[in-house]
Amino acid sequence: MSDRSHLIFTGKPFQFDAERDAEFEYLVKRYPSRESMILPALWLTQEQEGWVPGEAIAYIADRIGTFASQVYEAATFYTMYNLHPVGRNHICICRTLSCWLRGKQEIVDYLANEIGIRPGEISEDGQFSLEEVECLGHCGTAPVVQINGEFHENMDVEKLKQLLSGLR
Ligand code: FES
Repeated sequence: MSDRSHLIFTGKPFQFDAERDAEFEYLVKRYPSRESMILPALWLTQEQEGWVPGEAIAYIADRIGTFASQVYEAATFYTMYNLHPVGRNHICICRTLSCWLRGKQEIVDYLANEIGIRPGEISEDGQFSLEEVECLGHCGTAPVVQINGEFHENMDVEKLKQLLSGLR
């Protein structure tokens, strides 16, 4: 899994676009405290940018009225937040015990050999990126792959090939 303690800064200021800004204002009224908005605000950022740039951490903290360290802690703890740019199709593969025992490495090797991406990388054409993550909570149907947020269980190389060909 890539290092989740480091943020990447783009050098450009970050702010929500009009749509996300309206969504933020709508959601903030529905939560019991403004701090509860940290995770939804990170989702809005990822929806807008595809990932969470470093500049978004201070922006979210400002919008919520909390410390940037609190936003940073949440962003770096949950692997569902991408802390680096990703491909148009982002593939997460579980690397924890059940998935490891049931063949996740064959899938990782396939992606390295056929698509040319290893965990933490983006394919040259920007089409795919790969990340290894901890348990995705579907251990009974390992190995599990998540593509663009959607779960695919009992995965094997053949199934993955079919899925990816539909995404190209
Ligand atoms: S070990 Fe892979 S989903 Fe739990």
